[in-house]
Amino acid sequence: MEVIIQDNAESASRVGAEIVKKIVTAKQNAILGLATGQTPLLLYRELVRMHRKEGLDFSGCTTFNLDEYVGLDKDHPASYNSYMRNNLFKHLNIPDDQINIPDGMSDDIPSVCINYEKKIAKLGGIDLQILGIGADGHIAFNEPISSLKSRTRIKTLMKQTKRDNAQFFNGDIDQVPNHVITMGVATIMDSQICLMLAFGEEKAKAIAATIEGPISAMVPASALQMHQNTIVIIDEAAASKLNKTQYYRYVYENKPQWQKY
Ligand code: F6R
Repeated sequence: MEVIIQDNAESASRVGAEIVKKIVTAKQNAILGLATGQTPLLLYRELVRMHRKEGLDFSGCTTFNLDEYVGLDKDHPASYNSYMRNNLFKHLNIPDDQINIPDGMSDDIPSVCINYEKKIAKLGGIDLQILGIGADGHIAFNEPISSLKSRTRIKTLMKQTKRDNAQFFNGDIDQVPNHVITMGVATIMDSQICLMLAFGEEKAKAIAATIEGPISAMVPASALQMHQNTIVIIDEAAASKLNKTQYYRYVYENKPQWQKY
């Protein structure tokens, strides 16, 4: 695992966007795994800038989102479909038929999940998976005690996650759906590169447990310790409960030129 500590969310997101750019430039038909939430917003803004100002071409990319609410129409303002359209897709040149988000309105959720996994596998797997992290250590919506071998499936959100996400539902927790379709921990672990971002004091405990704690289903993100190529980019506040920050900074500052992004 590589840990990159930046002064703030802006510079962390710029470093993250450079990594995405490198992948998209090297492989025109890259398969990108995408997250929603507050965390990737600045990274997405930077990708849009790169597309507009630097001509970064996404037309060959295929995307798979991590998750979607069950029972929320894709045009609902709080759906992850809406989020992705507004914050990224309408600003880039990814053809609609190369965009994949689990269908939370289907009356056959198990088939949606199986077909999602099959489609990812058929296209050769995810090259780069962008991740945020919940304050309870969840990745995608794999809440604590999710199997570390889990695949795309339905999950029940914890009360705390519903509380955190109520901001997108006029602050009303009762409007937040109880269920989501989410990629599993094992689905995420199959990605070639995992790129996790986390900002703010409220993520510090989960980040410390993910990077320096024991691997445990109680902190699903800690499974990334078993992943061969995970990059965690955090701001000072999210890094504040880590023990080995000096070492992480030293590694980053002394990267061989050819390893730099
Ligand atoms: C969203 C997702 C979630 C979020 C996490 C953090 O697609 O998969 O795991 O990344 O809940 O959310 P924010 O970024 O809003 O703090």
